[in-house]
Amino acid sequence: MQKPKTIYLQDYKPSNFEITSVELTVDIQNRFTLVSSRLSFKKREELRGKKLNLDLNGESMELIGLKLNEENVPSDRFQVSADRLTLFNLVEDEFILEIQNKIDPSSNKALEGLYQSGPQLCTQCEPEGFRKITYFIDRPDVMSIYKTKMIADKTQYPFLLSNGNRIGSGDLPDGRHWVEWEDPFRKPSYLFAMVAGDFDVARDTFKTASGRKVDLEIYVDKGNLFKTGHAMESLKESMKWDEERFGLEYDLNIYMIVAVDSFNMGAMENKGLNIFNSTYTLADEKSATDHDFQNIQAVIGHEYFHNWTGNRVTCRDWFQLTLKEGLTVFRDQEFSSDMLSRAVKRIEDVMMLKEAQFAEDSGPLSHPIRPSSYIEINNFYTRTVYEKGAEVIRMIHTLIGSENFRKGMDKYFELYDGKAVTTEDFVNAMELASKKDLSQFKNWYNRPGTPTLVIRTKQEGDELVMDVEQKYPPTTLSLSEGSILHMPFVVGLLDKTTHQETEHLLEIKKLKETFRFKVTGEVIPSLNRGFSAPVYVDYPFQISDLITLMSFDSDPYSRYEATQKIYDYVLKNELNYLKATGKLSETLESDFQEAFRILLGNKDIDLSFKSYLLELPSENSLTQEMDRPDFEAIHLVHKNLQKKLGLQFQDWFLDQHETLSEVSRFELTPKAFGQRALKNQCLTYLVASGSEAGLRALAHHYESATNMTEEIHGLKMYIASGAPLEHPAIQKFYQKWKHDSLVMIKWFSSLAAFTPKSEALTRLSVLEKDPLFLNQVPNYLRALYLQFSKNNLHAFHDVSGAGYDFISERIKLIDGFNPQVASKAASSFSLINKLDEKRRGHMRSSLEKLVRGNPSKDTFEVVSKFLAQ
Ligand code: BES
Ligand code: ZN
Repeated sequence: MQKPKTIYLQDYKPSNFEITSVELTVDIQNRFTLVSSRLSFKKREELRGKKLNLDLNGESMELIGLKLNEENVPSDRFQVSADRLTLFNLVEDEFILEIQNKIDPSSNKALEGLYQSGPQLCTQCEPEGFRKITYFIDRPDVMSIYKTKMIADKTQYPFLLSNGNRIGSGDLPDGRHWVEWEDPFRKPSYLFAMVAGDFDVARDTFKTASGRKVDLEIYVDKGNLFKTGHAMESLKESMKWDEERFGLEYDLNIYMIVAVDSFNMGAMENKGLNIFNSTYTLADEKSATDHDFQNIQAVIGHEYFHNWTGNRVTCRDWFQLTLKEGLTVFRDQEFSSDMLSRAVKRIEDVMMLKEAQFAEDSGPLSHPIRPSSYIEINNFYTRTVYEKGAEVIRMIHTLIGSENFRKGMDKYFELYDGKAVTTEDFVNAMELASKKDLSQFKNWYNRPGTPTLVIRTKQEGDELVMDVEQKYPPTTLSLSEGSILHMPFVVGLLDKTTHQETEHLLEIKKLKETFRFKVTGEVIPSLNRGFSAPVYVDYPFQISDLITLMSFDSDPYSRYEATQKIYDYVLKNELNYLKATGKLSETLESDFQEAFRILLGNKDIDLSFKSYLLELPSENSLTQEMDRPDFEAIHLVHKNLQKKLGLQFQDWFLDQHETLSEVSRFELTPKAFGQRALKNQCLTYLVASGSEAGLRALAHHYESATNMTEEIHGLKMYIASGAPLEHPAIQKFYQKWKHDSLVMIKWFSSLAAFTPKSEALTRLSVLEKDPLFLNQVPNYLRALYLQFSKNNLHAFHDVSGAGYDFISERIKLIDGFNPQVASKAASSFSLINKLDEKRRGHMRSSLEKLVRGNPSKDTFEVVSKFLAQ
């Protein structure tokens, strides 16, 4: 197979041509769609008068007409290939090109460009989907004004939507109609969108700070209007929040969101016309979990916030992706923190970062937040670009303070509104506004891998001496001299006896540094408070110190971190015991028991926080900390510790579970989220205990559940405890929810993630044949295959290699029609460099089969990185 081409950041050159305006006419017919575009070109200033070729991107389409300045272009003046249209020797500095081409949305299963989702048509153009609609210079630094006229059958497609304002509409013969849209803002092609279909529409309005009225419209499948309330509220909250926190107002008179079932990602920020995966739009208490409600709020916020960070100021090229994504994730995290509980949100975000991003950054797919090369840009919408990118923005915020950060944002818009810029431009705006030198800080954009801070302390009289050393994982990238990171590091010093504390913001800028603090007695350091820097911390904590931090640290994140360290310590001891004796330990260490008891008894903390403090580190996070992980042992030890705690504290869990069952009203408040989270957590321990009382609690919990948060948790407990597919609990759920595809996706996910290993593969094979399993729709594919490979670790990594074979065969099938989803599924193999010989061998042979089978470039890029290990 021929190796696909690699694109390099260092090769960036501006486009030779600008496209100032785009006029599209899109005629949707039964068998195909006809696209006519009229493009106004201008040569770049410096190139005026030169004779140049023009290269346009274009894929999966048929060219049927081409005119240059109103004249047909003779066939010897242009060339069409599978991915481009080239016009030769253009002498004009300005000209108009008219292109006619045909596309077929109904056969487009990759879900890029114009495609069908159920009976509707919609588009996805980021990053390179516009080239599947018509020929274009499809790159983010080519920005144009768009006018779009859509024509279609009026009964089948009563709604025809595009970006901007509706400027006209009318009826045509044969039951057809047209609608025309104009977007007054210049934008890159990736922000273009169109939708055609029949919908129910939720409508509301928002009055901006300066008094303009904005129409808000949420388009959903017929019959789903009752599930739009939360999305609409979230949209209004987002608009208000961005005005208050950043002084940013919405800039068009209409904001539309369309929910579709077939979507490769979560949602997309197209100017004035967001397109959302229905999972991130629709919710009511019966069918959506608290996490669904929170995710909807976060995703609606995220896409809305892109209107400024992404759309008004966009990326020069796709290497700059974190410019808009890292910044916008930071903004949506701040929004959620302000709407809900800041402490809990930080714990959730860091938990995810450590589980997913740290893992990514320690494996074959590791890359800096601004990558320097790629084969397929779709593979770089990663945890690193997004979540580590957001941490990098958060560090700037910590280093310069929130007031300066706000000034920096103002500066950013003052300098770059309407432009396509780089991450460097962003940091420069922050520097200008804060007058702080961030030149060394920029190294974060180039260095891959998670740094470790090795910290050692000694007390010398009334001084605490703290030595800090930065260590980086090896990298093959060439980095400029040293490339030492600059980071904020927040440290608390907790007096061992009085529990009084002081807090210090350190700036670490050297490989080795020593800090000194005045102290009055013996202190325990509380390190990286609030997770101020995205690093591993290596410090030799005593268990007794961690127990003190767990109970008294005033920083909620550090307190959570201390409990996690305690669990880690206990679980590792239990793993060693199992390895040494072949048996699971039956006792609980008394110090640990005491610490857990104190935690249970703590009455001053919010219940969500408490349920996180009670949660054992996931099997995923334990795996990460180990070389050649023994998946089976991890699974057994994890369950066993839950069981022992469940038995030891059964009375408390039963009592608490019962008390929390008395809450009757359903509310979407942090308090109510906390009550349901803790109730579920109690059930987890009760079921793990294996006692009669635990099983009775499960039956009661499940039967009496009146919301999805509790119902789905009960279902998962049945599945994890080995219930067969025919079990009434599993069947009842199916019968109850078979009309609701979003809930059925949860049913499939739960079975894939929690079915015990002995049954897992057989069950997956049954589930994929279920009539409700739609095997071309990404949400279902992710529910079955990714939930299995990422969350049912001991089953997927079974030493026989059967799990690897199963998943790689499915990846091959999916790659045949949707490379983006296939390559995400291929990330299932990212643990390859940590595995023992045997598993690695099996994994390699599954991966080799994949590369030999002529994969898409998406899948090729990922799989070949795994095989290079
Ligand atoms: N711009 C992306 C959507 C996107 C990503 C489209 C990749 C095409 C290819 C959007 O703003 C986004 O980041 N969506 C996230 C959710 C968000 C809350 C982090 C997603 O879709 O997962
Ligand atoms: Zn985004």
